[in-house]
Amino acid sequence: MKKVTIKTIQKLKNEGQKITSLTAYDYSTAKYLDEAGVDIVMVGDSLAMVALGYETTHSIGMEEMLVFTKAIAKGATRALVVADMPFMSYHSDVATAVKNAGEMIKIGARAVKIEGCNDYLLEVIERCIGAGIPVMGHLGFTPQYLNTIGGYNIQGKSYEATLEILQKAKELEKAGVFAIVLEMVPEESAEYITKNLAVPTIGIGAGRHCSGQILVSDDIFGKFSDFTPKFARKYGNLHLLIKNCAEQYVKDVQNSKFPSEEEIFKLSEEELRQLELHAINKIL
Ligand code: KIV
Repeated sequence: MKKVTIKTIQKLKNEGQKITSLTAYDYSTAKYLDEAGVDIVMVGDSLAMVALGYETTHSIGMEEMLVFTKAIAKGATRALVVADMPFMSYHSDVATAVKNAGEMIKIGARAVKIEGCNDYLLEVIERCIGAGIPVMGHLGFTPQYLNTIGGYNIQGKSYEATLEILQKAKELEKAGVFAIVLEMVPEESAEYITKNLAVPTIGIGAGRHCSGQILVSDDIFGKFSDFTPKFARKYGNLHLLIKNCAEQYVKDVQNSKFPSEEEIFKLSEEELRQLELHAINKIL
């Protein structure tokens, strides 16, 4: 299967085909998503909550992101693996930001995602792209700015707010991002923004008219049960399946029903005879 590149992503948008994206948090899931035909496998910093049990994305740093990115990149060999730049890994100065983005590429990611847009971030983005690191933008609700936004609020709710997002999206596009995530934006606003951009938009809670969609994989599997946002469709009930499997295992062990004859290793007759002899000698 041909590797998905940033060119493939633009081609899908140009041909009016929807781009598919899911997050992944481990090697085997990344492998299954890859096999299922997902275009972009995202090492989302949502792994802070989903995989590490933190309260927000603020608590995850470069070291943890690198460990997960390495595993996920090994699993998803066809899809475009995009690694989220974690909170404060690109805010202190441009040189550190580019170095950290480079670490993501060295470990196996093929692009990075940066939240927000201002003059400083535009410089970071341009310098990353100049160094050969493709960058995906992220506008609308940007979780790393939760404290300044003041809550999990829908963005772009008015004409002015929509134009503000569009203006930022255009600046990101000019800086060279290959796609932009639009999070928690009303459908009409996201459609307007998408229509006015050349680069694809990837929506999450942004309606039906973005160039593609992304969701948190543990949400669609029904694995993460702490909270499920309105826009996350559940395709399974993995948390119940996991609980049921674990409960049955506990019962089987307690009732000596596991392991069975087929699940054990046995000595050969000769080895058994020697063991019995040894036991007899020891007793004697
Ligand atoms: O961290 C994340 O999971 C994300 C997306 C789902 C866009 O940023």
